[in-house]
Amino acid sequence: MDTRVTAVILAAGLGTRMKSRRAKVLHEAGGKTLIEHTVDAALSIAAPERVFVVVGHQADQVQSVVASRGVRFIQQDEQRGTGHAVMIGREQLAALGGLLVIYYGDCPLIPPALLQALVDHQRNSDAAATLVSAEFPDPTGYGRVIRDSGGHAHAVVEQKAGTPEQLAIREINVGIYCFRADLFWKHVDKIQPNNPAREYYLTDMIEILSHAGHTVDAYRATNPADLLGINNRIELAAADRVFRERKIRALMLGGVTVEKPETVTVDNAVEIGTDTVIGPFAQILGNTRIGEGCRIGACSIVRNSELADGVEVAPFTMIDASRMAAGAHAGPYSRLRPESEIGPGARVGNFVEVKKSQLGANAKANHLAYLGDSSVGAGVNIGAGTITCNYDGRTKNRTRIGKDVFVGSNSTLVAPVEIGEGAYLAAGSVITEPVPPDALALGRARQVIKEGWARERREKPAGTR
Ligand code: UD1
Ligand code: MG
Repeated sequence: MDTRVTAVILAAGLGTRMKSRRAKVLHEAGGKTLIEHTVDAALSIAAPERVFVVVGHQADQVQSVVASRGVRFIQQDEQRGTGHAVMIGREQLAALGGLLVIYYGDCPLIPPALLQALVDHQRNSDAAATLVSAEFPDPTGYGRVIRDSGGHAHAVVEQKAGTPEQLAIREINVGIYCFRADLFWKHVDKIQPNNPAREYYLTDMIEILSHAGHTVDAYRATNPADLLGINNRIELAAADRVFRERKIRALMLGGVTVEKPETVTVDNAVEIGTDTVIGPFAQILGNTRIGEGCRIGACSIVRNSELADGVEVAPFTMIDASRMAAGAHAGPYSRLRPESEIGPGARVGNFVEVKKSQLGANAKANHLAYLGDSSVGAGVNIGAGTITCNYDGRTKNRTRIGKDVFVGSNSTLVAPVEIGEGAYLAAGSVITEPVPPDALALGRARQVIKEGWARERREKPAGTR
């Protein structure tokens, strides 16, 4: 028998209980949307052309989030229940035969190993289908699995329809199924919307197959935390916490020190080298790569950036889409905006903002500066209060500072402008013209001294000049 897997992910609902304008599967946990998590799990058991996502609410956005993975889509314009969502895909799905794995787009923690175990179980069983069940301490809201005397699943009863005895059952329907496709399509039309919600319930298939003389296995999952279905924002936060804990544990087991790990957020794709220390409340996001022996200070946020070995990021620093070379230093309270490159051993200090700029080896901008659209050579010292005026109200212009330049405090460099190597800018200068190498540039009013002026003023009666 053909046991190739076709996976169907149901994601057409709005998710009323989220109380959101955004479709439920577009909400994020663990740094990715719920639909990305569930599609990525499906790709571990089925080829992309055999993974189908049923879309409805905000179909365009849902499709665009996962389209790059090469999966296919089924449009469900009117959401008439989980059974209906699969029924409308008959044309595309029935011809594929094999095994039909169906689950919901709102269960992002689903481990690929569980999907594989479910498929393996079904392949070795005579049953018409296998569903995943779990024992939940609080089963409220989930469908309950009713077993027959032989231990097979006989029915799934929804919360709204259950009798008190049925609702006392703690074995719940997780919402992950593996059907023999031929039997599924043979019997699916028997699903009727005869329930208080007037919906076509996919879960009715269990009773339908049993009544038709088939067996349905319930495959009991051992770790209920992996199977949380997201229906509201409390559950969304709980799933996020599980993702975060998984990642932090993996990092710590891999040789990264994480201080107050329960406060730290690290996205799944992030890579961090051994002996790096992550301070409390740090957030390391996106595709960030951090080398060995680094330190990321408390409350710093690093996103989509690359930090080489031995980099130090002091607390309260933001680094976005930038690169720091070995031994570079930023913070506390620095901000690296996209496309900034901090050279080896270079330092960016408190209240310094850097945007689309390169700092050469050992360059320093230690206090209160803005460096935008600039290239700063090796060994340059940027004094406190230096500003590159990169915007003239119409276009952005570059500032080029050669190596070993000394930029005095409170200098204003009006771009486009170029400072030659080894030049010296006097403090407080407004620099509008190119400065040749090794020159001194002064661009400020000359100081005037009036001897005795202050004393004379004190001695005059108040109100006179
Ligand atoms: C469902 C199961 C319940 C199970 C629980 C596990 C049914 C009838 N009940 O309930 O037994 O314990 O999941 O989390 O299946 N969807 C569509 N089209 C529709 C309706 C729903 O695509 O017409 C999608 C939703 O977008 C969602 C998923 O199916 O991602 C599940 O729907 P939801 O309303 O969350 O079902 P539950 O009430 O949680
Ligand atoms: Mg649900």
